[in-house]
Amino acid sequence: MADAVPAPTAPFLDLEALEARARELLPAPVFDYYAGGAEREITLTEATRAWRAWRLRPRVLRGVSTVRLGTTLLGTEVGTPVGVAPWAYQGMAHEDGELATARGAAAAGALMTVSTSASTSLADVAAVEPDAPRWFQLYRLHSPAHTGDLARRAGDAGYRALVLTADLPVLGRRLRDIAHDFALPAGLPLANHPVAGTVEAADSPAWTLDDIERFAGLSGLPVVVKGLLRGDDAVRCVEAGAAAVWVSAHGGRQADPVVASAAALPEVAEAVRGEAEVYADGGIRSGSDVLTALALGARAVFVGRPAIWGLATGGDDGVRGVLAGITAELAHTMVLCGLDDVGAVPRDTIAPAG
Ligand SMILES: Cc1cc2nc3c(=O)[nH]c(=O)nc-3n(C[C@H](O)[C@H](O)[C@H](O)COP(=O)(O)O)c2cc1C
Repeated sequence: MADAVPAPTAPFLDLEALEARARELLPAPVFDYYAGGAEREITLTEATRAWRAWRLRPRVLRGVSTVRLGTTLLGTEVGTPVGVAPWAYQGMAHEDGELATARGAAAAGALMTVSTSASTSLADVAAVEPDAPRWFQLYRLHSPAHTGDLARRAGDAGYRALVLTADLPVLGRRLRDIAHDFALPAGLPLANHPVAGTVEAADSPAWTLDDIERFAGLSGLPVVVKGLLRGDDAVRCVEAGAAAVWVSAHGGRQADPVVASAAALPEVAEAVRGEAEVYADGGIRSGSDVLTALALGARAVFVGRPAIWGLATGGDDGVRGVLAGITAELAHTMVLCGLDDVGAVPRDTIAPAG
């Protein structure tokens, strides 16, 4: 595990400026595909606000000046509890796509989750930073044989866990994409798909509970179930063999309106009772958002859009800058709160606002 480091002075990470720049650089349908949510975008709008419904309760006189930022995720060492969520079609954001994200995540010591719907094959992403921590996110494709083959290839290519995304039995109704009549750019490779498919494997059949054991067996990897918002679902997954559960509303792109991750996380963490690791994503935009999630029971958090804006505006260095920036904010906030280890953030670090 990484040694404790002096908390870096928080740099000014202006995610809103990065997003505005990405909007200028990308064609409008592509920007809206990345930025948008489903239906009336209530979940999307509420996600960030929900983390900010909590307030920090700093501890003083603890002699804290360094912070241990490293932790382990299913036994894999990472340099920060802020990872990259799986997101599709990175080749639309930058010519180096997933390869640039992999380099940027590795430079920040962050775990990257590679999407089934990547523009680069899972083997090529693995090869660019062979020693970096990475997981593979699996959608069920039309062909069961091909889905099983992807799981096996992820195990062979050195991915350390398989992430089954549970919240996409059908694609959410994304009104911005419908308005643009959005289609993937001609020539964009869907490197892990057998044939050019529709957005995010739209016609995938849903996973079932026994897939957890089955795909763990096929891949030889621990299985993470992503896309939970309920304690009872988390318990069912853990009883069925999941090594971890990932609280997520898919960035507000599926059912809408649903409870925010920040609201669902305490129930899930409580239900799992330490028997599996718990992660969260959705609307995490700052170090204090991360600290709130850790206090609510997450072992790690993941970011989607912040990494997208980093990639679109600055390639690998843009991704590195976003992850390092949020991590530096986390370290800085922890010192201010008298906390020195991301693995030991007590629940009473936060209280409801107001
Ligand atoms: C453009 C885009 C594409 C996504 N593609 C996938 C995907 O292929 N697989 C998946 O499990 N989740 C996917 N997600 C959901 C993210 O993994 C994550 O749950 C979400 O982006 C987190 O919210 P945030 O963007 O507010 O950080 C996607 C999200 C976005 C914004």
